[in-house]
Amino acid sequence: MRINILAIESSCDETAVALISNGKILNNLIASQMIHAAYGGVVPELASREHEKTIGNLAEQALLEAGLNWRDLDAVAVTQGPGLMGSLLVGHSFAKGVSVALGIPLILVNHMQAHIMAHFIPERKPGLPFLCLTVSGGHTQLVLMDELMRFNLLGQTRDDAVGEAFDKGAKMLGLPYPGGPLIDRYAAHGNPEAFPFSVSKMPGLDFSFSGIKTSLLYFIRDKEVGHPGFVEKNLPDICASYQRHLLAMLMEKLELAASTHQVKSIGIAGGVAANSGLRKLLAEKAKEKKWDVFIPEFSFCADNAAMIAITAHYKFLAGDFAALNSIPVASLSADFELNPAQG
Ligand code: KG4
Ligand code: ZN
Repeated sequence: MRINILAIESSCDETAVALISNGKILNNLIASQMIHAAYGGVVPELASREHEKTIGNLAEQALLEAGLNWRDLDAVAVTQGPGLMGSLLVGHSFAKGVSVALGIPLILVNHMQAHIMAHFIPERKPGLPFLCLTVSGGHTQLVLMDELMRFNLLGQTRDDAVGEAFDKGAKMLGLPYPGGPLIDRYAAHGNPEAFPFSVSKMPGLDFSFSGIKTSLLYFIRDKEVGHPGFVEKNLPDICASYQRHLLAMLMEKLELAASTHQVKSIGIAGGVAANSGLRKLLAEKAKEKKWDVFIPEFSFCADNAAMIAITAHYKFLAGDFAALNSIPVASLSADFELNPAQG
């Protein structure tokens, strides 16, 4: 049997469309919204309007590139949440429209689960149980997948996400949004031991990133009083030191989760998984602990629709379809399971 699915991701500031055929990704298109840079962060209302302008054309383009027609589709999938409600609504309404117009099933996908499922796109797939550290602009989570598509949330941040700590830290340092990749770039030329920052400790497998952010704020304020221009002159060292602390917090909890649950198959996902320092630390730890490590290629780390497509493929096989009275959910936990009977 042939299974062609059109997948849509519109949870934040990226409009993304992908096509998957029999579990193989045919294409993965992304239209990034540049409009937010001027505001130093995502403006939800502008994001929704941009999605609305882009989504139809992007879907047409994906079909055209793949040599498929609307009638060739067997299902349409969309991110149900978590995300910005207005942005989710655009993708959700569009997908519902496609489902009704073509008489094909609608599949709802949990964005956090999809980040983890991105690991199942390449040929080399993680063995189970699989422990995944999902690190993005909105989330920091440790999830254990004991069976394919069964997600157990082991720990998460109690306040800011690590991506947020990168972005807000970058803003304090005068860098443009999103600052995470820039901190990564400056850190590569700096001394990670140059400056100490204080971090908040969380019990168990939870994280907290608000303390280190405040520590950076006071550090900048104090240094600039005595030495104006200090930040500019020491940017690589500050970025490297700040990043070292953030990554150490992630690695500590990842290691604890792996030993507690005796897992050797380990991955990272989400936008911050693109961080070169984190990739390096993970590779080193893998050697030391004999972990089998999985790091998605860049295009599958940040928000994309291929990860929605692969998750939808497995949901299609399980007959996990949504009712037409389904709604997007702005805050959706990584272990949230949609009951098909409820729609
Ligand atoms: O997963 P994602 O694309 O969107 C969300 O669902 O949030 O993640 C975006 C986040 C932003 O905070 C961005 O600064 C961060 O990922 N990011 C990075 C890097 N590339 C993206 N953070 C640190 N180093 C990077 N190289
Ligand atoms: Zn994401």
